[in-house]
Amino acid sequence: MKIGIGNDHVAVEYKEAITAYIQEKYGYEVVNFGTDSTERFDYPIAGEAVADAVMSGEVDRGIVICGTGVGISLAANKVRGIRCCTCSEPYSARLSREHNNTNMLAFGARVVGIELAKMIVDAWLTGEFEGGRHQRRIDMIRQIEARQLVRAEEARGWWRAFCMSRVG
Ligand code: RB5
Repeated sequence: MKIGIGNDHVAVEYKEAITAYIQEKYGYEVVNFGTDSTERFDYPIAGEAVADAVMSGEVDRGIVICGTGVGISLAANKVRGIRCCTCSEPYSARLSREHNNTNMLAFGARVVGIELAKMIVDAWLTGEFEGGRHQRRIDMIRQIEARQLVRAEEARGWWRAFCMSRVG
């Protein structure tokens, strides 16, 4: 298993601790997409980079960390196909795998202590998607994404026609 990890300036030490934990406990490769500096770094950059790596197959799953975990998860979830949840405890992390088949996990360096973060990571890495009725709901989420694409395409077509009418 290959895990992509990303963070902003708030979560540099956190990222390092979680990376070492995953490598040592699970033997997984961890690919770093975050900043290694405490200079201000905008979390959407890291959220998108990890999300893109998950969707391209460069990594199997992603973990992203910012101050609260909220901003970086919002950014990741803008990438089509990403299901990223912000978790502050292991129960939601496990169920996010079993029911929602999350492919990314977020948490907040300013919210959860490092030992709790490790428990969240354990629950998320070991949780298995249960399929069945849960798959139908995931399919519904994918359908939302598909409808958004269709709407964007329709808007592009409308705009093209409008521009052509102004030229003609
Ligand atoms: C950075 O100050 C902070 O806004 C960021 O780490 C994160 O908490 C945003 O959601």
